[in-house]
Amino acid sequence: MYTTDKQLYVAHSANGPIHLIGKMCNRHGLIAGATGTGKTVSLQVLAETFSQAGVPCFMADMKGDLSGISQTGAMSSFIEKRCAEFGIENPKFQPCPVRFWDVFGEQGYPMRTTVSAMGPQLLARLLGLNETQTGVLNIVFRIADDNSLLLIDIKDLRMMLDFCGKNASKLTTEYGMMTAASIGAIQRAIMALESEGAEQFFGEPAFNIMDLIDQENGRGIMNVLCADKLMLKPKLYSTFLLWLITELYANLPEVGDQELPKLVFFFDEAHMLFEDTSKALIDKIEQVIRLVRSKGVGIYFVTQSPTDIPEDILGQLGNRIQHALRAYTPKDQKAVRTAAETFRANPAFSTYEVIMELATGEALVSFLDAKGAPTMVERARILFPLSQIGAITAGQRLDIMNAAPSYIKEYKNYFDRESAYEVLSEVRKVADEQKAAEEQALADEKARIEAEKQAEKDRKAAEKAAKAEEKERKAAEKKKSSGLSRTIFGTLIGAVGASVARSVGNSIGKSITGGSKKSSSSKSTSSKSSSKSKKSDSGGLGDIFGKAAKSATTTATRKITQEILKGLLK
Ligand SMILES: Nc1ncnc2c1ncn2[C@@H]1O[C@H](COP(=O)(O)OP(=O)(O)OP(=O)(O)O)[C@@H](O)[C@H]1O
Ligand SMILES: [Mg+2]
Repeated sequence: MYTTDKQLYVAHSANGPIHLIGKMCNRHGLIAGATGTGKTVSLQVLAETFSQAGVPCFMADMKGDLSGISQTGAMSSFIEKRCAEFGIENPKFQPCPVRFWDVFGEQGYPMRTTVSAMGPQLLARLLGLNETQTGVLNIVFRIADDNSLLLIDIKDLRMMLDFCGKNASKLTTEYGMMTAASIGAIQRAIMALESEGAEQFFGEPAFNIMDLIDQENGRGIMNVLCADKLMLKPKLYSTFLLWLITELYANLPEVGDQELPKLVFFFDEAHMLFEDTSKALIDKIEQVIRLVRSKGVGIYFVTQSPTDIPEDILGQLGNRIQHALRAYTPKDQKAVRTAAETFRANPAFSTYEVIMELATGEALVSFLDAKGAPTMVERARILFPLSQIGAITAGQRLDIMNAAPSYIKEYKNYFDRESAYEVLSEVRKVADEQKAAEEQALADEKARIEAEKQAEKDRKAAEKAAKAEEKERKAAEKKKSSGLSRTIFGTLIGAVGASVARSVGNSIGKSITGGSKKSSSSKSTSSKSSSKSKKSDSGGLGDIFGKAAKSATTTATRKITQEILKGLLK
């Protein structure tokens, strides 16, 4: 409770009220204790006190019970008793101004970020990548950056990985080795993340970290992240919160020590942050936590045992509330001893013993004093909250969501602008088209060559056919001419035969008649033939035979001619 004299009154010991010192609230804190010992109510008491002082807070609501901070509290027998113990009369129950957020956008306004804003290191943690794969993811981010490719959502990252994988041989020289195995492993890890529904977390509008820092009527806004579903995905939950802290560090200006912090960040189930986290990332967390202090941000871890937190970080948590711890096993006892040893001892009691005796809502408390030194540990009772303890109804939640300012409601309007996915899809499309055109050109060229070959073949075939035809024509011509010669020859033979016959007849007749004078009448008519036969006769039969045979062009013809002649001469 923020008192009228501006004190952050949160607990009460036998020695009176215990206040947080406003100036020291950015020196971080720890709320630890076993289940059911009062951690969540302590967180609520601290947060609403900050709110009353005008300091906004961010807190993750793991079980829904923190949502009560949005409603007016009520008197109970427990609170009545506390009022009497603390000397408080008529506590003024009041709600805090609340904004509900939900990574899945169901019980609050969606809180999204972009892949590039999360960065390769946190993303590698989220994806559970090994060192080599993380190195490849770093390269992929650098290539995207160098080429002004926006990595907004999961599909951008997938497309970018695909692009890098396909062009690895070209990119390796400039950026370094990217094996197909590593790219494949990252793609598989992304698929696993998607199956958890985490893709909703990446997108736009991206959450503006400055929207956490707001007031309403002088009260600090309580930003409550509904995390009941989210905590079932410890990697996503813790990486998301880690991203928020990193963003705060990156975006807030240096302010140095102030009367009050600018923002207080409660990190519930903080042990999740350090499980399966590389040494490199733990070192980074440690560094961010140390540096974010000068930006006016206080971080309060909430966990069961202080041993859940790495020593370097634990050493930075100056404001402590330690609820009861159980020590059933030697391991538990060791944890209790460690917790006890982190406090500045009080001679009035044994810290170790008291830790195990504390009742619900009771704690060992040690805050930083005005000089930044831890105060002596006190056994104290934590104040009761003025807001409601426990969960609210769905209707109450809806009313609060509806009352949010319009710029907060805008987060519901998801949009998907041009980013790596769209650009690389276009690149792929153009490349595919180019490839198709090249293939087509190649096919066309092949077809052209084929056609040319075919044409040549056809030309040769035609030539051959023409030659054959010519040959045939010539053969036919030859045949025709040989037929003609045969006809001529036949005629010739006929003629020769007739003349021969006439000559032979004349000769025979002459030889039979003995050349009688009676035949002188026929002398004139036969003078020609007689002269002819005279001529023929001059060579005798052998001569006729020879001449006729000579007229025949072929042996066969000659043979036939000879036969005919022989027949005639018989
Ligand atoms: N300071 C307090 N004032 C009033 N009631 C309290 C206070 N602290 C604890 N209680 C009561 O004890 C119950 C359990 O406390 P709380 O829910 O804070 O425990 P927790 O440590 O957060 O448990 P878990 O580890 O299961 O989350 C509360 O519901 C409330 O009724
Ligand atoms: Mg709790």
